[in-house]
Amino acid sequence: MADQKIYQASTTAPVNIAVVKYWGKRDPKLNLPTNSSISVTLSQADLRTHTTAACSASFPTSDSLLLNSSPQDVTGARTQACFRELRSLRAALEASDSSLPKLSTLPLKIVSENNFPTAAGLASSAAGFAALVRAIANLYELTSSPTELSRIARQGSGSACRSLFGGYVAWQMGTKDDGSDSLAVEVAPASHWPTMRALILVASAKQKKVSSTSGMQTTVATSELFQRRAEVVVPKHMEEMEKAIKEKDFEAFGKVTMMESNSFHSTCSDTFPPIRYMNDVSWAAVGVVEDINRKAGKIVAAYTFDAGPNAVIYYEEANTDIVAGVVKGALGSVSGWESRDIKAQASDVLDVADVEVLNKGITRVILTQVGEGPIRTEESLI
Ligand code: DP6
Repeated sequence: MADQKIYQASTTAPVNIAVVKYWGKRDPKLNLPTNSSISVTLSQADLRTHTTAACSASFPTSDSLLLNSSPQDVTGARTQACFRELRSLRAALEASDSSLPKLSTLPLKIVSENNFPTAAGLASSAAGFAALVRAIANLYELTSSPTELSRIARQGSGSACRSLFGGYVAWQMGTKDDGSDSLAVEVAPASHWPTMRALILVASAKQKKVSSTSGMQTTVATSELFQRRAEVVVPKHMEEMEKAIKEKDFEAFGKVTMMESNSFHSTCSDTFPPIRYMNDVSWAAVGVVEDINRKAGKIVAAYTFDAGPNAVIYYEEANTDIVAGVVKGALGSVSGWESRDIKAQASDVLDVADVEVLNKGITRVILTQVGEGPIRTEESLI
């Protein structure tokens, strides 16, 4: 009888929030971007995907994926590309060492759980594909580096390639047609600048209306502003951001982060038909950050928005009171503050109309910080 053993491995993987945004594909099949990007990896204590990858001759013959207990379609080109690439790396190992079990030929069963709402603009696809690729790489005992695995995770979801590292991560767009040089690399580990904090204002836990994939395709096809962004704006921001991170210069980091978010959402407005991810609640969050910075007399808080209305506000630990404390003073009744010891401060520096909009539109806050890359765990979901 064939070997009925169940082989398995588990990992957790983080969310990342870009400070130089990926928006636009030069090759939609391989998920090759029109520009490079940089992100901050967020702590898995607060946001993470936990994934177990298993394979066995005793499993049903087709591969399967369960996310938060509901079966997912794995026949899509992106998931298939990840499975195929990982299987071929395993097959190469098996070919070089005949004593290895032929795991590459066995059906896969993947089980995943997010500790945050899926597809609410919280980069769940990034953590999801990074965890899937890392878990299967662990199962297959691949020796590939995170950068090598980023080439595979990228094919699942572009931003996922950056979630294979902790800290501050760049995705270099590359120039080759086969995508072999479109990879994620570490700019600096979390330990280089560990005081980076993030306050996430969750504006809606609903599914987003225009997916990143289709939104960016329409932008590439119709926006002229996008051309300038890809050719001029992003290359400049990439340089400035790497320097800001290396020098731990929050003012420079914050300025580029906000200008990047503005540039990205402007190209969304310039898309035809226009795409609108930020709503009135998002703009109230922009107002609050501006008021905080005006009061401080310098940039101590930086907003950024992805393909949804949630605000991510970066700040340094030393400024917790004047950033998170002030927001708590205005939004104290919302859930999520209990996870950290933040002292509510007087919020009279904030515009009352903005505070009113935030109180109506923010469903919860998430307090988190820069964190580590994927972590192997023995905790199995199977
Ligand atoms: C706005 O990585 O979700 O969050 O490659 O089509 O899966 P696909 O897109 P995805 O796009 C993320 C876009 C963004 C900016 C960013 O994370 O850089």
